[in-house]
Amino acid sequence: MSLRDQVDINKLPKHIAIIMDGNGRWAKEKGKLRVFGHQQGVLALRDVVEGAVEIGVPYLTVYAFSTENWNRPKVEIIALMELLVATINKETKILIENGVRLNAIGDLKQLPSKCIKQLEEAIKKTANNTRCTLTLALSYSSRWEITEAAKKIAADVKAGQLNMEDIDEKLFSSYLTTADIPDPELMIRTSGEYRISNYLLWQLAYAELYFTSKLWPNFRREDLFAAIIDYQKRERRFGMTSEQLN
Ligand code: IPE
Ligand code: IPE
Ligand code: MG
Repeated sequence: MSLRDQVDINKLPKHIAIIMDGNGRWAKEKGKLRVFGHQQGVLALRDVVEGAVEIGVPYLTVYAFSTENWNRPKVEIIALMELLVATINKETKILIENGVRLNAIGDLKQLPSKCIKQLEEAIKKTANNTRCTLTLALSYSSRWEITEAAKKIAADVKAGQLNMEDIDEKLFSSYLTTADIPDPELMIRTSGEYRISNYLLWQLAYAELYFTSKLWPNFRREDLFAAIIDYQKRERRFGMTSEQLN
C-alpha cells in the first residue's frame, strides 16, 4: 500500500507547520553554493504544497526566513530575497491552479520593497482560494510576534478599548499574526536538528513534533505523508490519562 493510501483522511491535521532546514548542507554535499540548495528547496516546497492539497490539509505554514537569518552573510540574504521574489512571481499561477491562498507572517516591513510588493500582489491574487492556506513565515520569530502582541494589547488597554480583566489566552491569540489560523497539530523539521528555532512557540504548545534527518531539498510529498501517518499513530492526551480518552 502506498504511503498516500495509508493516510487516514478522517484524521488529518488541520494545520501542519514546517521548518524547512538543510538547504545549505544539501548544496555543500554536492559541492555547490548554498543558494543552489535554496533553489532546490523551492521545488521541495512546491511538491509538499501539492501533496497537502492532494490529501486535503487546509493550513500549511512554512518557516522561510527567520529574524535570526538576518545575521547571515549579506550575499546569502540578497540571494534569498531575490529567490523569494522570483519564486512568488513564478509560483502564483501554480498556487491558483491548486486552490491555494497565500499568506505571510512576520516583520514583513524589514523585507526589500520589491519582495513586499510581489508578496502583496500574490496574496491579493490568491485571496479567494479555499483549498489550502499557505503561510510563509518571513522575517519571523516567535519572540518578536509575542512581544508585538503584548505591545498592541498594552496600547489597547491604555486607549480604553480593552479591559485588563478581559485578557485571556483566547484574546492573546487573537493579537498574534496567526489570529485567523488554528494552532498546528503537527510540526515537522527536516535536516536532523532537534530544535524549534524561535518558531510559533505559542501556537505549538500542544503540537506533535516530527523530526527527520532528510535535508529539505530532498523532502517530497511522500515524506509529508510519512509524517502524517506517524502523527496519526500518536495518542494526544492534552494532560489527561489514556483511560480518560478511551
Ligand atoms: C534552511 O536551510 C533555509 C533557511 C534558513 C533560509 P539552511 O540555509 O538553514 O541550511 P543549513 O541548515 O545551513 O544546511
Ligand atoms: C530555521 O532554520 C529558520 C528557517 C528554516 C527559515 P535555521 O537553519 O536558521 O535554524 P538554526 O539557526 O540552525 O536553529
Ligand atoms: Mg539551517
